Amino acid sequence: MAALQAHYDCDPGQDDAIALLYALGSPKIDIRSLSVVGGNVDVRQCAKNALQILELAGRGDIPVYTGAEKPLARPLVSLPEVFGETGMAGGEDLPLPQNAPRNMVPAQDFKTIASAPILVATGPLTNLALQIQNDPAFPQQIEELFIMGGCPFPEPVWQRMGNYKPDGASDYAEYNFACDPEAAKIVFRAGFKKITLVGLNVTRAVLYNSRVEAALRGTKNVAGLRAAAILSTVGEDDVQDYGPLRETPDDPVRALHDVIAMAAVDAPELFEFVTVPLRIVADPLPAPAGQSLIDAENYDHPSVRVAKTIDRNGFLRRLVDNIGGIK
Ligand code: BDR
Ligand code: CA
Repeated sequence: MAALQAHYDCDPGQDDAIALLYALGSPKIDIRSLSVVGGNVDVRQCAKNALQILELAGRGDIPVYTGAEKPLARPLVSLPEVFGETGMAGGEDLPLPQNAPRNMVPAQDFKTIASAPILVATGPLTNLALQIQNDPAFPQQIEELFIMGGCPFPEPVWQRMGNYKPDGASDYAEYNFACDPEAAKIVFRAGFKKITLVGLNVTRAVLYNSRVEAALRGTKNVAGLRAAAILSTVGEDDVQDYGPLRETPDDPVRALHDVIAMAAVDAPELFEFVTVPLRIVADPLPAPAGQSLIDAENYDHPSVRVAKTIDRNGFLRRLVDNIGGIK
């Protein structure tokens, strides 16, 4: 079967970087182009990180476009305490990229750049929303949109509806949606034919730890070793979130988030999905803006395919095989 052609919109970000390596190593995914958005770190840093990962994997031929700097209606809150000052802790010593990022005006250019049938988005949804605002027909050109975001069912670590609570908010929501809830709402209302949502309820069900680290190091290839170095550099927030789950004091337990959404493209058979009507909360503070609620009356999209469970071991095998397969 021919590989699925995909555009990847992201905010690398350690876990976006791992998702990119996973996709580059998958025989089933053909990443055609990338765009970055301000999120985990400043958008220019995201572009640099993306280029470094592409060049590490010998894929400097894939273009990277620099998109929106900040959310539609809110200031950007980035996460150095989670992923490090560069957003890619454990990757700081990678060589400077040979290639430069390309500029794009998201509202005008995203449609042409994201011309592949599959669109994977693992950052705030600002780039997509800007294009939709300018061209409401844009979603029709996409066969399937895969999103890492939201948390339609309680996440399994703390039983919360998210991992992030902005100052003054009344409850937790997932970071990508809470960062730009207005954009998330626009995207879910835009009439995409098929949306697959991979939220925290699933991404927190498969955690990285020293055993996964050993398997990645066992690949002995440059991508596997680098993935282990990045993932084993665990930020302060993750130490607090996952500390109780450590088997030893230095066990690098953390979530892998974005790569799980990439796995839904690559290996949907690893998941159990439910199809539900979904509403995004985009109210001003103190609302838990960014929450993704199953709501049969006031939905933004009537039938989102939501990942409910994942075959943990099957996924981890795939993670090591894909990343270990990069030449
Ligand atoms: C999501 O938020 C970001 O910080 C991660 O890169 C991931 O996309 C998890 O909530
Ligand atoms: Ca991300």
